[in-house]
Amino acid sequence: MSVPNIELNDGHSIPQLGFGVFQIDPEETARAVSVALDVGYRHIDTAEMYGNEKGVGEAIRASGLNRGDVYVTSKLNNGFHEPDEARRAFDRTLTELGFEYVDLFLIHWPLPTLYDGDFVSTWKTLEEFKADGRSRSIGVSNFQVEHLERLAAETDTVPAANQIELHPYLQNREVRSYDEEEGIATEAWSPIAQGEVLDDPVVTEIAEKVGRTHAQVVLRWQVQHGNIVFPKSVTPERIRENFEIFDFELEPGDVERIDGLDRGEAGRTGPNPDQFAYVP
Ligand SMILES: NC(=O)c1ccc[n+]([C@@H]2O[C@H](COP(=O)([O-])OP(=O)(O)OC[C@H]3O[C@@H](n4cnc5c(N)ncnc54)[C@H](OP(=O)(O)O)[C@@H]3O)[C@@H](O)[C@H]2O)c1
Repeated sequence: MSVPNIELNDGHSIPQLGFGVFQIDPEETARAVSVALDVGYRHIDTAEMYGNEKGVGEAIRASGLNRGDVYVTSKLNNGFHEPDEARRAFDRTLTELGFEYVDLFLIHWPLPTLYDGDFVSTWKTLEEFKADGRSRSIGVSNFQVEHLERLAAETDTVPAANQIELHPYLQNREVRSYDEEEGIATEAWSPIAQGEVLDDPVVTEIAEKVGRTHAQVVLRWQVQHGNIVFPKSVTPERIRENFEIFDFELEPGDVERIDGLDRGEAGRTGPNPDQFAYVP
């Protein structure tokens, strides 16, 4: 099974399918990531907030793969937006992972109600990490259109990626279109809505018709829209199942039926980025 690469606006590329490690216990992370690497995943999405960067690094080293063969993303935690704090946090991320660089480093949340709404200085600090080569690409997460517009007006670097909640019940079309127009890759977090969309009758019907699992149908819908996904699972059979989505295709009519499941804001499962102000 070969996973397509998506070209980023800075000349780097990212595997369209990866493995997410949110809510995996630190003690269990190395094992889960090892299973994923065995299956063939070459892209891991972690964050300082998840507390498991160390396990990600351990599994990659234990796999015997070259560092350059695995795409690694991490994220700046909410307590560290102030530039000096961000610099220290990024150093800690590299230490935890045990790597000299990450492939992609993101501002985890914009936190527009904290730090006087100043995510711009935070972004300028990430520009330093890109300039010194310790983050090959830099991007953001949970940024709304107005946040992206501010970065465009006040800084020199367009984010390579914007990682947002996106699944059949919250299709986040406004942000998705802005990303596309501005050359920002969209990464869809909670791509199967943590399982909530899997029992939808439309998904069930399509899965029966194409002879695939519900999760495979939803993940296939994501990749046919060009989104980057990294489903999380600690279950080896599911880790494998979620990887097997590049040997079939949904017909346009089935893609449209899933498009029709959008519930807008009512479909959101996580926090609203305009209000979210949690500092761990
Ligand atoms: N930037 C952000 O703010 C943000 C926020 C949330 C997530 N993320 C990223 O996005 C990744 C994925 O999102 P997520 O972890 O929230 O949710 P998700 O990938 O949509 O769903 C994970 C849940 O679905 C279950 N599952 C996985 N594969 C399945 C399958 N084939 N059949 C049935 N159930 C299945 C998992 O159970 P088991 O593990 O028990 O198998 C787990 O409970 C995260 O790991 C993280 O990397 C980013």
